[in-house]
Amino acid sequence: MIKKFLIVLPLLAASAAAQAPARPPAPAPAFRRPPAFPERPPVDPALVESGKGLYGVHCTFCHGVDARGGSGGPNLIRTAVVLNDKDGELIGPIIKEGRTGMPKFDLNDAQISGIAAFIHSFKVGGYDVSRMTPPTIVTGEATAGEAYFAKTCSGCHSVNGNLKGIASRISDPKRLQQTWLMPGSGGGFGGPVATRVAPVTVTVTTAPGKTVKGRLNRIDDFYVLLTEEDGTPRTFTRDGDNPKVELNDPLKGHRDLLGSYTDKDIHNLTAYLVTVK
Ligand code: HEC
Ligand code: HEC
Repeated sequence: MIKKFLIVLPLLAASAAAQAPARPPAPAPAFRRPPAFPERPPVDPALVESGKGLYGVHCTFCHGVDARGGSGGPNLIRTAVVLNDKDGELIGPIIKEGRTGMPKFDLNDAQISGIAAFIHSFKVGGYDVSRMTPPTIVTGEATAGEAYFAKTCSGCHSVNGNLKGIASRISDPKRLQQTWLMPGSGGGFGGPVATRVAPVTVTVTTAPGKTVKGRLNRIDDFYVLLTEEDGTPRTFTRDGDNPKVELNDPLKGHRDLLGSYTDKDIHNLTAYLVTVK
């Protein structure tokens, strides 16, 4: 990588210098076809699935469910970066550093290579599919969405109960979609956070029958940091299962489901939920 830059940069500098005398600017290059659809080696479907979940959480809102452009982000499928990327090595720095209009994300290389695999799983196609993208994301069938809701969501939700009037409260279909995909993630783009999600809590068993409970601040292999209900911060060192640590993530149900939706499910479910006024 570094070697490449060392070679390329002097060349660029030289050609810039050669053009320096007041010459009329070179005519804009004629439209060049993007590189032919790159043949990609088959990838592990599990990697694509993991990337799909992460993409759904972090990228869908701006780049669209199918990466063909969304609210505030461009179509990614035919950009040079994506076409030339193999395993996240070009997409990764953009994710980590952000761009104008795109926040940076704290994702690790494995997560990035999953996201890249997911983006690469879309066919580039011979014509510009993005032009055919309908102006609304509400393209699914509400009745199919209702059936899917009954099967998948009704264990925790009801449209006469905790989701009553959800489409009146969240009237923008994109935000509504982002909210049901991952509650709490619909905000942060300049709008209000739609959902107040209870924090992840943790219970640490310090001695037989003795537990400390609180809101999880951080956990890794060596430490668990929490804040007790009265505001006291606590830190415990961890050594394997000692002490016993139990996490309670209120959105576990949503996280588990993320990888299982097809694009069709997503469109149908959103088409249904926008009717829940
Ligand atoms: C808040 C909206 C937003 C979010 C969220 C977002 N992006 Fe972007 N993204 C943008 C915008 C706007 C650009 C164009 C920036 C520019 O023109 O420099 C962009 C550009 C990109 C590019 C470069 C495209 C090119 O042609 O060079 C890639 C790759 C990309 N985004 C991937 C992602 C991925 C992967 C995620 C999720 C981890 C993500 N983006 C999340 C708004 C967003
Ligand atoms: C295992 C339980 C569970 C399942 C299954 C589940 N959810 Fe949720 N959902 C939650 C929890 C917990 C929240 C956080 C907000 C709360 O506590 O009500 C939430 C929040 C939401 C919100 C935001 C609500 C608001 O008031 O802003 C929407 C919308 C939503 N879920 C839709 C769905 C849909 C659609 C499905 C099925 C695809 C689904 N959920 C499946 C537990 C679940």
